[in-house]
Amino acid sequence: MKNQIFSSLFWKLALIFLSSLLIVSLVFIFISVKSSGKHYQEVSQRISRPVAKRISKHNHLFLNGQLNEAELKNVFHDVMVVNPAIEVYLLDTLGNILAYDAPLGRVKVEQINLQAVKAFIHDEENTFFTATNPRKPEVEHAFSAAEIKENDQLIGYTYVVLASEIYNSAIDQLLGSYYLKNAGWSVLVALLGALLLGLILIWLLTRNLNVIINGVKSFKQGNLSARIQLRSQGELTILAEQFNLMAETINQNIEELKQLDRLKRELTASVSHDLRTPLASIQGYAETLSLKNKDLDDTQKLEYASIIFRSAENMKRLVDDLFELSKLESGQMEPKLEPFSLKELIYDISAKYKLMAEEKGIQIRFNLPDKLPLIYADIGMIERVLQNLIDNAMRHTYRNGSIELGIEQKKNSVEVWVADTGVGIKENELPYIFDRYRKTSNSAEGGTGLGLAIVKKIIDLHKSSIKVESKLEEGTRFSFGLPM
Ligand SMILES: Nc1ncnc2c1ncn2[C@@H]1O[C@H](COP(=O)(O)OP(=O)(O)OP(=O)(O)O)[C@@H](O)[C@H]1O
Ligand SMILES: [Mg+2]
Repeated sequence: MKNQIFSSLFWKLALIFLSSLLIVSLVFIFISVKSSGKHYQEVSQRISRPVAKRISKHNHLFLNGQLNEAELKNVFHDVMVVNPAIEVYLLDTLGNILAYDAPLGRVKVEQINLQAVKAFIHDEENTFFTATNPRKPEVEHAFSAAEIKENDQLIGYTYVVLASEIYNSAIDQLLGSYYLKNAGWSVLVALLGALLLGLILIWLLTRNLNVIINGVKSFKQGNLSARIQLRSQGELTILAEQFNLMAETINQNIEELKQLDRLKRELTASVSHDLRTPLASIQGYAETLSLKNKDLDDTQKLEYASIIFRSAENMKRLVDDLFELSKLESGQMEPKLEPFSLKELIYDISAKYKLMAEEKGIQIRFNLPDKLPLIYADIGMIERVLQNLIDNAMRHTYRNGSIELGIEQKKNSVEVWVADTGVGIKENELPYIFDRYRKTSNSAEGGTGLGLAIVKKIIDLHKSSIKVESKLEEGTRFSFGLPM
């Protein structure tokens, strides 16, 4: 478990994150150090911009075209006292250094490039300029410069190197500067904070990933009820939800396949079982007919032939019913809904039973409203339902009894019923009559017990339900609703 929490992904991400943080901090420190030196120079130039001008204006550095040594000494001394970080140079019009206040030998160039100097003097926008520092020619420096004129004639320049006291190395600078030291500490604190936060986030992310991996693994290993529950919101949660939906679908498919398989096996079993009885009687009578042909008179022969015919008829009906029921149960038959007149359908079906009813002395009565909107159902299936119910009623009703076919209009549907005054069904047998092959103890001859199972399945497919009420020796009433 432990190595799952801190998975290799966690460490990889943590390492990548840590390295990026380090690189960013180093770059930041490098840029800070670089720019702080420049910043220091820029600020110095901004503050001390007019220094050279003032020196030129208030001192007579040249007298009649010659260097004024006494005045120069004063100036160098004053500047030294006021700000030891600046150095004053006196240049001729070509940039050659004529005089300076640094100790001898410390100056390494003899001439200053005047390009930046002139640009500085003519600049009016406070632009930042750098030029040669005679003591350290390898780095450019902030400076101040001004022209020296005599009788409106340019005779030289005052050139002042500003902020010459810079640090020797970046480390010196880092340790020596209050600003940089502060910045350094801030970076360190921010780095630690970001590191902590980053590690927590990476941990949360990889933890959810591990939950997902475990869920998928568990499902793969056969735990079909394995689902992934993530507490957080985000892409991983969507992934987990999608996995859960997929698992649900797979389970449903497996269930459907199992169901189909079971139905197939049941069908095979019941077909072979149910065909045995009529087959046996067909075989028996056919055998007798062929073996004892000479001993039988014509009436007997006719009787045997008609038994064979009825058995074959029964077999055919049974096979048809079985196939219909299994098709309904396997979901291969979807009701094709269409509007039709239920009243007409009832009249049509009952016409087929008219002769049988007369023979049996049973009266068929109707209880139908005058006006009835069309109903919305599969006409073939509903015909089958009514046929099965009327057939049952016919077979279980005594002579002089009656069968009532009725419709009552409800709010958005109609209630249809088939009621008889027949033998009735015992209360304890009522809950099971819709099961296949179920027949009650006082059931009429014939029938295989599939009719009501087909009825119930069809009504289910119409998203409705069928009800039965019955009293022994008084009668039975089946009713169901249909949408209009
Ligand atoms: N109107 C009824 N009155 C009394 N008993 C009934 C009535 N309808 C059905 N039953 C009982 O319910 C059982 C199941 O009926 P079902 O229609 O499923 O089978 P069946 O009529 O015996 O055979 P099949 O309809 O397949 O030819 C019947 O055998 C009978 O015992
Ligand atoms: Mg029946």
